[in-house]
Amino acid sequence: MNSTPTPTPTDASGSGTTTLWRNARLATMAGPVAWGWVGHGALLVQGGKLQWVGAESDLPVDLKPDAEVDLQGALVTPGLIDAHTHLVYGGDRAAEFELRLQGATYEEIARAGGGIRSTVTATRVASDDTLFQTAAARARTLMAEGVTTIEVKSGYGLSEAHEARCLRAARRLGRELPLAVRTTSLGAHALPAEFEHRADDYIDAVCAWLPAQHAEGLVDAVDAFCEGIGFTPAQTRRVFDAAQALGLPVKLHAEQLSDLGGSALAAEYGALSCDHLEFLSPRGIAAMQATGTVAMLLPGAYYFLHETHLPPVQLLRDAGVPIAIATDHNPGSSPVLSLLLMMNMACTLFRLTPEEAFRGVTVHAARALGLADRGTLAARQRADFAVWDVDHPRALAYRFGVNPCRRVVFGGVERAREA
Ligand code: NIG
Ligand code: FE
Repeated sequence: MNSTPTPTPTDASGSGTTTLWRNARLATMAGPVAWGWVGHGALLVQGGKLQWVGAESDLPVDLKPDAEVDLQGALVTPGLIDAHTHLVYGGDRAAEFELRLQGATYEEIARAGGGIRSTVTATRVASDDTLFQTAAARARTLMAEGVTTIEVKSGYGLSEAHEARCLRAARRLGRELPLAVRTTSLGAHALPAEFEHRADDYIDAVCAWLPAQHAEGLVDAVDAFCEGIGFTPAQTRRVFDAAQALGLPVKLHAEQLSDLGGSALAAEYGALSCDHLEFLSPRGIAAMQATGTVAMLLPGAYYFLHETHLPPVQLLRDAGVPIAIATDHNPGSSPVLSLLLMMNMACTLFRLTPEEAFRGVTVHAARALGLADRGTLAARQRADFAVWDVDHPRALAYRFGVNPCRRVVFGGVERAREA
């Protein structure tokens, strides 16, 4: 499929106009059939939502849409969801990459005051506008591959004022780009230098910032880095208690470099997701299964840190724990801006099937954000979808280093190519 259909007027979000997108091959990711496959399908869009999705032969005979788009047999999928990113930060860590290639480990660099702390220094000196513009450029790169929703964490400000600046920059992305943005407060990402040897005092501060962040509408969820170079389970628990007191859902960077039991702790708080999980134990899996917590696998960080300890994919599968995949875009452990490449790596490195990887960036990614209105193509879902220049969705995980995304519709409105 090489032809690009001629653009026609599409539905404006919120309007009553109906647009029929027809002659498509649909991977709806809904229902019991593999890929939710519909060989010759159509989507009816109205007011930013999908009003009807199914086989073209089942369309109501008297349907009179205001506009019609012939997709000429192209593949259509739900818009992709990158449910774990650290998109807002200053500077980069290319020099640290060189150090690691010379033998220094990620942990050694962090313990020597480099790593996250060096990005904190660069973030604090960046202006609000620089933080926004650099994050927007990164977001646009993700969007070009059919991404319609992202999560963005703070965690490189590490003071009340700078964390709030980062969260505001994330919110501004959602206002100014045709993209849905969910924000996560990650004050408990690393110990800032001014709190050296006073981690418990720092956790007190992080907990004290949350109510104001929440009151300003800056927080959709709360995260922490539970790790030897991050925070202890007891400190993580205090952050979760503060989140819970505000009614905010939690998630956790857990079991990335060692097994501290963070996943079981997070599951105790009904966490939306536990993320990384290379060192996840059977006990952690059982706890996540019991609460329906999503396992968020991050192959970019696994690859970039030369990790060799694989996440327990087969045990997660056996337990029926939903698996999501994300970029974990950040300057230190995963400076990648391609969710398609993450699908490929989830298959090659973690042995997910292409369909599992695709569920991981659609249905299960939506669940990891607590969003029930996206991730599948079905009636009443948001009209967020991508049109691809491949024959079958498995090819989205198969190819890498190419972008077969041809068109993206966000909330019923087709994005301009360079949006
Ligand atoms: O998700 N694990 C902690 N946080 C990031 C890395 C942050 C950094 O190195 O700057 C992650 O991999
Ligand atoms: Fe992360």
